[in-house]
Amino acid sequence: MADPNQIRITRPDDWHLHLRDGAALAAVLPHTARQFGRAIVMPNLKPPVRTVAEAADYRARILAVLPAGLGFEPLMTLYLTDNTPVTEIAKAIDSSFVKAVKLFPAGATTNSDAGVTAIEKTYAVLAEMEKLGLPLLVHGEETDPAIDIFDREAAFIERTLAPLLRRFPGLKVVMEHITTTDAADFVRSAGPQLAATVTAHHLLLNRNALFNGGLRPYHYCLPVLKDERHRQAVVAAATSGSPKFFLGTDSAPHPKSAKEAASAAGGCYTAFAALELYAQVFEQAGALDKLEAFASFNGADFYGLPRNTGQITLKKEAWTIPTSLPYLNSDPLIPLFAGETICWKMT
Ligand code: DOR
Ligand code: ZN
Repeated sequence: MADPNQIRITRPDDWHLHLRDGAALAAVLPHTARQFGRAIVMPNLKPPVRTVAEAADYRARILAVLPAGLGFEPLMTLYLTDNTPVTEIAKAIDSSFVKAVKLFPAGATTNSDAGVTAIEKTYAVLAEMEKLGLPLLVHGEETDPAIDIFDREAAFIERTLAPLLRRFPGLKVVMEHITTTDAADFVRSAGPQLAATVTAHHLLLNRNALFNGGLRPYHYCLPVLKDERHRQAVVAAATSGSPKFFLGTDSAPHPKSAKEAASAAGGCYTAFAALELYAQVFEQAGALDKLEAFASFNGADFYGLPRNTGQITLKKEAWTIPTSLPYLNSDPLIPLFAGETICWKMT
């Protein structure tokens, strides 16, 4: 008889992660490497990771600070710009460690100033990606300041994503960190070349969390949290068992001083307890039996990579997330749900 207070699943992967660089990288990497076999590492460093050569260097810096004994594989991405050379795509395929190209609309989020100013400028690169089978990962928000911030994801689908999929029907696309009914419906009804990642914070929180008893910078991320109707639609998609939705934490560390500021940086740090937070969502939805496919199968299958072979165990056990984690010299990292008790623990 299976123990209801314990689940064993294939080792999961994180298909959307920010690791930063230097001391920050060294501080956060062990949290992810403990839980996940692989992670798709975002390229929005300063300056961004734009070429395969830069991705190789960044990958080497990650591996250099990986604690011994943690078998973790960073999967690298290139930051798409208006000037990305078409020749980088074949180089990416040949590299075997660059697994995708990331589209940040210019100005959409942290370190996106070098992003794409007009999607037409990338058509030659996208055509090559379609031809060679390299996935495009999109931060799916319009940046037009005239559009209400809560409507930017829906606007992106209509104005940018739907036309893009019509122009490049064979291009593999991941809509990252979906937050709306619109995105869940769009991904579900599109062909198998379109999939989506879902974060733990967008599954657990709605926009009330931003204003709960005062302005809450640790709940501020991009895309911004949406209302409860949208949250429920995203939970339904993630827990549905559809292979089009998979785990991508978007864990995005910022030091305390950047979060507790007049203009707080966007990003929730969830890597410390990522899998446990997802387990909580799936349990609440009565869908713990769907967690393994979401966390460990669907992403690998979409990217055409082998599934991990090891297993991890989650136990039903209350524990408290630390109030603070070491990060930069005297500037700590405050994890999401700092000081709060959660109910699953990875052993
Ligand atoms: O909340 C976010 N933080 N969203 C992003 O798209 C970027 C990320 C970061 O790099 O801090
Ligand atoms: Zn991100």
